[in-house]
Amino acid sequence: IEAEPNQIHSWPVLMYYDALATVGSSGHSIDLPQITVVGSQSSGKSSVLENIVGRDFLPRGTGIVTRRPLVLQLVNRRATATGSSSVNGTGSGSGSLIDVVDNEAAKANGAGNAESANSSGAAVDKESNEDEWGEFLHLPGKKFYNFNEIRNEIVRETELKTGKNAGISSAPINLRIYSPNVLTLTLVDLPGLTKVPVGDQPKDIERQIKEMVLKYISKPNAIILSVTAANTDLANSDGLKLAREVDPEGSRTIGVLTKIDLMDQGTDVIDILSGKIIPLRFGYVPVINRGQKDITTNKSIKSALEYERDFFENHASYRAKSQYCGTPYLAKRLNSILLNHIKTTLPDIKARIETSLKKYQTELAALGPADLGSPSNVVLSTITEFSDEYRSVLEGRGQDVSSQEL
Ligand code: GDP
Ligand code: NA
Ligand code: MG
Repeated sequence: IEAEPNQIHSWPVLMYYDALATVGSSGHSIDLPQITVVGSQSSGKSSVLENIVGRDFLPRGTGIVTRRPLVLQLVNRRATATGSSSVNGTGSGSGSLIDVVDNEAAKANGAGNAESANSSGAAVDKESNEDEWGEFLHLPGKKFYNFNEIRNEIVRETELKTGKNAGISSAPINLRIYSPNVLTLTLVDLPGLTKVPVGDQPKDIERQIKEMVLKYISKPNAIILSVTAANTDLANSDGLKLAREVDPEGSRTIGVLTKIDLMDQGTDVIDILSGKIIPLRFGYVPVINRGQKDITTNKSIKSALEYERDFFENHASYRAKSQYCGTPYLAKRLNSILLNHIKTTLPDIKARIETSLKKYQTELAALGPADLGSPSNVVLSTITEFSDEYRSVLEGRGQDVSSQEL
């Protein structure tokens, strides 16, 4: 597989997923790494996810809006020759994961424009685009090119299982988004942690949501995006509390502080960022999402990202470190955490494949001679090739995601 220079960070992830998908289809269960969002209700989880993807498609708002888990698989498709590829440097500038990644690579190649992740924005606000579409597992074969329709379908499908009156369900909605502007990875949006039942919610709503969340974040390969609103007390953060239950060392948890714009004047999150309050190995990233008024008035992601950048660049507390603030930086961090995660899980996955390969070879041998080909060998060699290539990519970059930058 040819790696395009600007995709140096994203193609290993792609190959990894492709290889695992092949393994998966031959009956093994290997859990793909996924990024799961946890936090209190209305802390801004869905807003953060949407900003990472760079498209408007999730129901957001005050109260319990996310009422079923949404397993969101982003699938990178290379853009068509004439398309608005982020690879060719005229990227859609949505601030999505791959834009940030490509932008970094472009910078490294000396050809890039450091500002383009935030400033080009050409394809972002269109409601539909030939290059990007969504598909739901429950509606096989139906392609959604209009992202408003994706949101409507999430709402419709949520209400189908839970009614209209704030009920919840642990049955996930599975959505795939194919786009040249995303990095191939899986994100999980979950209902927020809440304490007091409202509407049709069960009396033990707190326990039910907690169990639902724990199911997703206890997998050792889950990267936990723990969201806390900056205008609430970090020590009371439900997201952090739950993350700590399954990841006491904080080795796969990254903190996100939302609503920085809503903090009281004269207060800031500098002490949290510098690890003085509750330290996390991957640290915290402060972000500003669109507020309720912005949602009502359909403020675009592009203008929201501009506002966010201006805010951090001009704020007395953050301007000295503004490159470590905001959604594009969060996306970049997630990408490097994910790559690191793949690096550490790869040997184990390889070992498991080798073991089952041996088992199948023995079974095949027992069946007697017949040239059935050897699909597993293909998988193994892909993985081996991938891990070698991947190692060289990482070594070349001197990747170190364990240090806290702030
Ligand atoms: P969730 O319940 O955790 O998924 O939170 P949502 O993403 O649905 O957001 C809840 C509410 O908070 C919505 O009205 C958002 O517009 C608002 N919100 C989220 N993040 C921010 C932020 O950074 N700043 C402001 N002003 N509002 C935000
Ligand atoms: Na909400
Ligand atoms: Mg939500």
